[in-house]
Amino acid sequence: MKLLVTGGAGFIGSNFILYWVKNQPNDQVVNLDLLTYAGNLESLSSVKGNPNYTFVKGDICDVKLVNQVMEDIDTVVHFAAESHVDRSIMDPAPFIKTNIDGTYVLLQAALKNNVKRFHHVSTDEVFGALNLESKEKFHEKTPYDPRSPYAASKAASDHLVRAFHTTYNLPITISNCSNNFGPYQFPEKLIALAITNLIEGKKVPVYGDGLHVRDWLYVDDHCEAIDLILQKGKVGETYLCGGLTEDIPNIEVAKKIIRIMGKDESMIEFVKDRPGHDRRYAIDWGKIHRELGWTPKHDFDEALKKTIAWYKANESWWKHVKSGEYKSYYEQQYSHR
Ligand code: NAD
Ligand code: TYD
Repeated sequence: MKLLVTGGAGFIGSNFILYWVKNQPNDQVVNLDLLTYAGNLESLSSVKGNPNYTFVKGDICDVKLVNQVMEDIDTVVHFAAESHVDRSIMDPAPFIKTNIDGTYVLLQAALKNNVKRFHHVSTDEVFGALNLESKEKFHEKTPYDPRSPYAASKAASDHLVRAFHTTYNLPITISNCSNNFGPYQFPEKLIALAITNLIEGKKVPVYGDGLHVRDWLYVDDHCEAIDLILQKGKVGETYLCGGLTEDIPNIEVAKKIIRIMGKDESMIEFVKDRPGHDRRYAIDWGKIHRELGWTPKHDFDEALKKTIAWYKANESWWKHVKSGEYKSYYEQQYSHR
């Protein structure tokens, strides 16, 4: 099989390529990535030179390049996106461009080149926010209600992907997953930011009252879910993937990390809340469990320990990333405490 992975130099994409090359060593994998601030080829150093792996630097909005790259491709796994909510609040423009226009360019090329499967990786944020008090969870029939520019751009891309299936019969599948964590995550997202800040002796910034709830999914479990969807998923279908956490507020996530790292709670700093901050996400992953036999395998606390150990053992990876552009972003984002 010949696989095109978009955004393969990012957090989940690089984990997915490492997973795929290990488990399907005879498949060819092409990684198309623009190498924005979030893309890092160091994450893929172990597959560099592998004859079945090719890297192409380029923009998913570039029609000519995308059509060239799509020739002979059987399966597309589309991760490439602007992915950080706070950056989408500062400047939505690149989110509209990459997440909407870029997805459209890929869909057109997939149709033209007769790809056998277009898998679109999306987010639970398209569903909006749940109440803290409720026990409700997102499921495949939950109406869309995106509330940040990031979520709105991902929602638009999901609609386009479905429209290409309904209208043109493009063989698509979609997964909407919850918050991923694990190795190679850019340290702008909560868990990677908290761990790397603590290693550097800096505090963990917690937005607002810290009672916002996310559903946490270890990245390896997510890669397995995508693998199963590619092998056994039904064309045209959407699958929600979530982790094993049950309504754990951000402040508790921060405290867990602090405890594992042997620090004390004075390292938590409450900072100004994010505008439009979604209160609670929770995922009902019953459909993918029942229909494809998927279950997340990683207990949150154990996976958190593994992730912390990885960031401790790989300081050069994230220290390199935390220099340059990251510094000005951090100052702008966290200066109004
Ligand atoms: P990321 O920000 O770490 O990586 C995104 C990658 O896409 C980077 O390598 C970047 O260089 C590349 N990219 C950006 N714009 C591009 C363009 N125009 N052309 C080509 N490449 C481009 O993102 P991630 O956390 O790995 O997320 C991957 C996907 O999963 C995204 O679609 C995101 O919406 C979705 N998702 C992520 C999470 C999460 O918790 N990280 C949760 C749900 C869904
Ligand atoms: P984040 O990792 O940005 O993912 P998302 O916004 O996609 O859920 O944030 C996870 C949660 O942590 C979210 O409720 C916002 C909060 N948060 C903080 O409290 N402090 C921070 O510095 C960051 C980045 C996020």
